[in-house]
Amino acid sequence: MSAYLTTANHLRIVKIENIKQETPTVKSFTFKDKLCSKARPGQFIMVWIPDVDEVPMSLSGISPHACSISVKKVGEATKVLHQRKTGDYLGIRGPFGNDFRVVRGKVMVVGGGTGITSLMPLVESLVKENVEVTFLLGAKTKNELLLRDRIQTVLSKTKGRFEITTEDGGYGSEGIVTEFAEKYLTKEKFDMIYTCGPEPMMHRMLQLASRFHTPLQASLERLMRCAIGICGTCVIGKFRVCRDGPVFTGEQLSEVKEEFGHFKRAFDGRKVKL
Ligand SMILES: Cc1cc2nc3c(=O)[nH]c(=O)nc-3n(C[C@H](O)[C@H](O)[C@H](O)COP(=O)(O)OP(=O)(O)OC[C@H]3O[C@@H](n4cnc5c(N)ncnc54)[C@H](O)[C@@H]3O)c2cc1C
Ligand code: FES
Repeated sequence: MSAYLTTANHLRIVKIENIKQETPTVKSFTFKDKLCSKARPGQFIMVWIPDVDEVPMSLSGISPHACSISVKKVGEATKVLHQRKTGDYLGIRGPFGNDFRVVRGKVMVVGGGTGITSLMPLVESLVKENVEVTFLLGAKTKNELLLRDRIQTVLSKTKGRFEITTEDGGYGSEGIVTEFAEKYLTKEKFDMIYTCGPEPMMHRMLQLASRFHTPLQASLERLMRCAIGICGTCVIGKFRVCRDGPVFTGEQLSEVKEEFGHFKRAFDGRKVKL
């Protein structure tokens, strides 16, 4: 194991400095941690909830002063996490995994669901590098639109574009975010597509990237246990998402096309249809 991984893998106890209710089901938790403050966009941590579980979470905020995770309440561990108060403590390991590669020029960022969390630090880095960003944010309903104001604030300092879509038309344009991506790709050329969200959405973005000859980077979610490449829980084809990812290029995803967008693994290793 590399020296970095050995250090990052040490469990640290951090105090929750602030909690923000982002949507009815998502809360952001802010904490201070030296290693996380040096994390790169796209990296994730393991959050330990004593007596319950340890779960992977992307860093939604990375700064020298404070870092954050934005957690959707979906099951046992995230429910207990949502009950934590400011001043309570969290166990964390990480940051783990690779990061989004920042390119120059003009890029499209497509996010859906809690996938937005890992795209937030990326957009901040892109804006710092004067990259022209078209951000397409999709959700089923207005209530599920995550980090909208933060994205808006970051992009307002640039000539970046921000388009919001909801499937029920309750906010922004009505429709599926990938349909809007297709419209933009038909009219304009982009130097990179970055995406994170539900796997069927990213699968569609991979098809569009291939059709419009545009490179793609996508951040994947798989079940995780160790986060350091040992247990094999997070495997997709020949890759382990925790070590080889979570960010994969379009070329890499084409190499695991039998699984990407079609199957995930259960904790016992069984293939489960997405
Ligand atoms: C790299 C990575 C980054 C992630 N980032 C975020 C994030 O920023 N915000 C966020 O809200 N969620 C994120 N997730 C998903 C999050 O880890 C799961 O929602 C969480 O583990 C669910 O735990 P639970 O006990 O509350 O739910 P459970 O009752 O265990 O399960 C509910 C659902 O969560 C999935 N899940 C359960 N355990 C895991 C696990 N160990 N790894 C992955 N998925 C799991 C299950 O497939 C199930 O569909 C990320 C996952 C990965 C792999
Ligand atoms: S989570 Fe154990 S190998 Fe990836």
